[in-house]
Order: sequence, then structure tokens, then C-alpha cells
Amino acid sequence: MSKVAIVYGSSTGATEAVAEKIQASFEGSTLFNAESVNVEDLKPYDLLIFGASTTGIGDLQDDWDALLPKVEKMDFTGKKVALFSLGDSASFSTSFAGAMYYIYKALKGKVEIIGSVSTDGYTFDDSDAVVDGHFVGLALDEDNEYNETDSRIAAWVEELKKHLN
Ligand SMILES: Cc1cc2nc3c(=O)[nH]c(=O)nc-3n(C[C@H](O)[C@H](O)[C@H](O)COP(=O)(O)O)c2cc1C
Repeated sequence: MSKVAIVYGSSTGATEAVAEKIQASFEGSTLFNAESVNVEDLKPYDLLIFGASTTGIGDLQDDWDALLPKVEKMDFTGKKVALFSLGDSASFSTSFAGAMYYIYKALKGKVEIIGSVSTDGYTFDDSDAVVDGHFVGLALDEDNEYNETDSRIAAWVEELKKHLN
């Protein structure tokens, strides 16, 4: 059975709470905080789910700053990656959930990135996380659309599971 790890960067706990929900959807999966994870710890996993909240104007959550250069150098042989990010589509409508784009940009071409998501049902003006008309991963808005979160996670997880052995 495929082994799944979730690595999250969270400043005030919203992304951590979502990461816990995603972990609960994958039996036997492991949760790591970007603040303290060692890239060596990620070696045994087949699917790596990387998540972060968006800070600044469309920026990546701070705990990823030190981690991403190390993740970029990982050997991804036999692995797949999926991405998620949190944002606030009302207050930051032109940079909604942009965080995951930084991880996408760093890993594109190095590993298969699965789990892109349609922008249907979201309300925002712009986001770097939209590439070729789709979010590069799962965008969530715990500030305004928290009532959508569980169903968005469920649909996404179902899609990811199609790629697992
Ligand atoms: C200083 C600051 C900057 C933010 N910038 C953005 C942004 O550019 N785009 C966005 O969608 N959300 C932005 N947000 C909203 C957060 O990403 C959102 O509230 C998220 O749920 C926080 O998750 P966390 O508690 O895991 O850090 C910002 C929040 C703060 C406090």
C-alpha cells in the first residue's frame, strides 16, 4: 500500500487543522510540520502532500523558506506530490491562495504533481496558483468558505487516491 506524508506550514493554525483533516483521510499517513521536518524523514513515502498558508501578498508561509530548497534537491524517484494552500479570498482576492505556486514552481519537472483543481465554485480575482485555468493543487479558504472545506477535501482526496497503489 502507498505510504502518504503530509507536510504543512502554518502561522496561526488554520493550515495545521486542515492538514489534520487530510491526514485523517489517508489511513496510516504521517503528518509533519514544515518548521521541524527533516527531508530525510520524507524518504519512505510514495505520495508527499505539501501545504502552506499564504502570507504577504501571495507569498509562501515562512516555515517553508528553509525547507523548500532542501525539498527541491530530494530524489523523487517513484514518488508523487500533491499541493494545497490556504488563503483569504475576500481580503486577498488578487493573490488568493498563492502560496502553493512557489512549491509548484520549485518542483515542476522534477516530480509528477497530481491533484490540480478546477476554479469553479471559488470567488476571487487572481491567483498565481492558477496555471492553465486550474489551481495547481487544492485551494481552501478557512476565513470565508469554511463550510466548503470538508467537501473540497473529500473530492480532492478521492482524486488523489486514484493515483495510489
Ligand atoms: C499578513 C497576512 C498576509 C496574508 N496574505 C494573503 C494573501 O496574499 N493571499 C491569501 O489568499 N491569503 C492571505 N492571507 C490569509 C491567510 O493565508 C489565511 O488566513 C490562512 O487561513 C492562514 O492560515 P494559517 O493559520 O495556517 O497560517 C494573509 C494573512 C495574513 C495574516
